[in-house]
Amino acid sequence: MSTLTSNRIKPFRKVITVPGDKSISHRAIMFGSLAKGITTVEGFLPGADCLSTIACFEKLGVQVEKTSATSVRVIGKSIDGLQAPISTLDVGNSGTTIRLMMGILAGTSFTSILEGDASIGRRPMDRVAKPLRMMGAKISGKENGKFTPLTIKGTPLQGIIYESPVSSAQVKSAILLAGLSASGKTTVLEPTTSRDHTERMLSAFGVQVERFNNGASIEGGQELTATKVIVPGDISSAAFFLAAALMVPGSTITIENVGLNPTRTGIIDVFKAMGAQVTVEKQQESSGEPIGSITITCEELKGVEIGGDLIPRLIDEIPIIAVVATQAKGKTVIRDAAELKVKETNRISTTANELRKLGAQVEETEDGLIIEGKTPLRGAICSSYGDHRIGMAMAIAGLAADEPVVVDGSEAIQVSFPGFYELLKQL
Ligand code: S3P
Repeated sequence: MSTLTSNRIKPFRKVITVPGDKSISHRAIMFGSLAKGITTVEGFLPGADCLSTIACFEKLGVQVEKTSATSVRVIGKSIDGLQAPISTLDVGNSGTTIRLMMGILAGTSFTSILEGDASIGRRPMDRVAKPLRMMGAKISGKENGKFTPLTIKGTPLQGIIYESPVSSAQVKSAILLAGLSASGKTTVLEPTTSRDHTERMLSAFGVQVERFNNGASIEGGQELTATKVIVPGDISSAAFFLAAALMVPGSTITIENVGLNPTRTGIIDVFKAMGAQVTVEKQQESSGEPIGSITITCEELKGVEIGGDLIPRLIDEIPIIAVVATQAKGKTVIRDAAELKVKETNRISTTANELRKLGAQVEETEDGLIIEGKTPLRGAICSSYGDHRIGMAMAIAGLAADEPVVVDGSEAIQVSFPGFYELLKQL
């Protein structure tokens, strides 16, 4: 197990970039594999999760060539061209890999077995297995397919209309991908719109996706055509460095070349509501994704209330928002975020536990957190619990702590942010 130590720093001015978007990198490999022709991917995130996606598709007979540290070529096989894997598909720590692959594999003509690490073994897979079974899918696994390992016996599928009880891009994407090989039309509706990278990227691959308020439809039997994907920097990674500027008043940071998809930019709305000055400049668009720069600075923060439709737009950012909230005057209330309990860890508990070690006033609720600020932070030995975002959140907390913050299990950060420590050192 490795550790990372972070210390209080002086105000800084910096212009940085962050590694490629994790959600978009996964989809570029997956859709490139399902397409006809060669897809080139630039700005690819070489994090552990996306490498798991590559390894799974290689086992399905897809050739993926690394052309630089952050670019790959995917030699597409088309949907019918995937081959039966000769061994278990290992998704590592990646929920996106397993859930989207369930949708892709359900309609094939072969059997696959999917499994991952201990964290994946605790995460619910029935949220995807249930709608896929309504389409005809044959999925079995521990506790009737609730948990891994999962066996998926490929079979012909029929389109459905599915009203998802959760706003989850992984659920929505799995069903839409199964819909590609199903007969007829497949429609997914969700309580509020989750990230829409699947819909945007499928369109870039030439697939017709009908979009409407809180949902999307896809007609089965459509082919994907290879394309070039430019992956923007991950706003969920940028969030840690935007937060760093807020933890050290008087600092200014600009993150360039970052994704500005409105289904992901809830963090900007929250930091603005907390009193930060934020400037967003859209510079280009690629594969339907807006890309640009974000500049942030702040002297004084105030507590905010976060809930409702905003939650899916910042679901991965709640641990770092909680860290920033410890330095905001007044109460920050986060509600409607029960989904946090089924992430890489139960992030309501892991965030609260670790922040309390630093002296923060944090209360866990059924569906969120209540943080009372502003509290001086002290040093402590914290754990990532094997969760990349908890590890990074605690490292950023250390920038405002009176003594060093040691993060045990910092190797988990490799899942989404290779180079995090080096970038942190630059501050
Ligand atoms: C992701 C969707 C989100 C997010 C995860 C990546 C994706 O999960 O938390 O980090 O790439 O589709 P849910 O869709 O389960 O909310």
